[in-house]
Amino acid sequence: MSSSSVQTSPSPSHEVDAETDEELYKQFTDSVSSWPSSEPMPFLPLYRHDKGWYSSLMPMVGAMVADARFAARPSDIIVATLPKSGTTWIKALLYATVHRREHPADAAADHPFNSLGPHECVNFLEYQLYTNNRVPDLGRLPDPRLFATHVPFTSLPSAAAASGCKVVYVCRDPKDNLISMWDFANKFRAREGQEPMSPEAIAELFCLGVSPSGPYWDHVLGYWGAHVARPEQVLFFRYEEMKLDAAAHVRRLAEFVGLPFSAEEEEGGVVDAIVRLCSFDHMIGLEATKSGKTELVVGTAANSSFFRRGQVGDWANHLSPEIAQRIDAITEARFNGSGLRPSGTK
Ligand code: A3P
Repeated sequence: MSSSSVQTSPSPSHEVDAETDEELYKQFTDSVSSWPSSEPMPFLPLYRHDKGWYSSLMPMVGAMVADARFAARPSDIIVATLPKSGTTWIKALLYATVHRREHPADAAADHPFNSLGPHECVNFLEYQLYTNNRVPDLGRLPDPRLFATHVPFTSLPSAAAASGCKVVYVCRDPKDNLISMWDFANKFRAREGQEPMSPEAIAELFCLGVSPSGPYWDHVLGYWGAHVARPEQVLFFRYEEMKLDAAAHVRRLAEFVGLPFSAEEEEGGVVDAIVRLCSFDHMIGLEATKSGKTELVVGTAANSSFFRRGQVGDWANHLSPEIAQRIDAITEARFNGSGLRPSGTK
């Protein structure tokens, strides 16, 4: 299979004439099943539609059901990322920031993160909520509701776009993104009895655009364009810059969601407490990380699998300079003219 030999399917039709939730899921499942698909990546085939690659059948169906049924509110906040871009971290930061009054970050011993991982606190629409033939009752959730998604900007539920709700996007250097995916993929592949993929093999597919929710560049540019057009609705963070100054990003996040830190909170060190609470070193030691699990529609993931090294530039330990240059060249060409500079450049 090569991406050039794969035709894209027509736009997913979200016209709904199903009477029951089961019928709705069946309609979309039948539709996606007829689309062109890739070899197992990371461990299940990815289905292709004209908005990009998707992370296997059921999350694609979940995204379509969410598009048809999600009743968005203007107060909703949606975390949007490519898988392995820092989703776990931004979910933790967002949850800890929004809920800092009832769950103070400096009382870490009592914080929900001791028993729940970030993916249990902030659920994915298409991997956790719109799954298993079910349309969840989200109306009972208090404002602001926090959700997450890996879908491209153009595939966000149409009600979300129309509601004017807020979107928090995190992008990461594609080389680190793909190495993180390579490691994660091989954990799942081992569990499924599949051979591990080499970094070269996964890089080759990545460059062709074949990666979960990829092509990488379309995903990033989609959210970047939305951020440029509506900065008050779409926040755009970079993983590398978050690593350099997490506190500044927490402040920007709080302002963006309409909950800026008061002078009293600043003096009380609330921002630093949130940064510490959500730091890689703290989160990796929590019992919820060490022994917790998250149910995703593609399988159960150990919470520990969302933590590996949490560093910038680890790609250099796994990718040859030639592959790195190839990815950088694609990134430069694709970002050219967008105003978005490739990660790692000033
Ligand atoms: P590495 O594999 O490079 O270590 P996602 O959450 O989107 O699945 O991304 C996972 C990546 O984010 C992994 O990167 C993981 O280690 C890193 N990560 C998870 N929690 C983090 C945190 N609190 N701070 C920084 N990086 C974190």
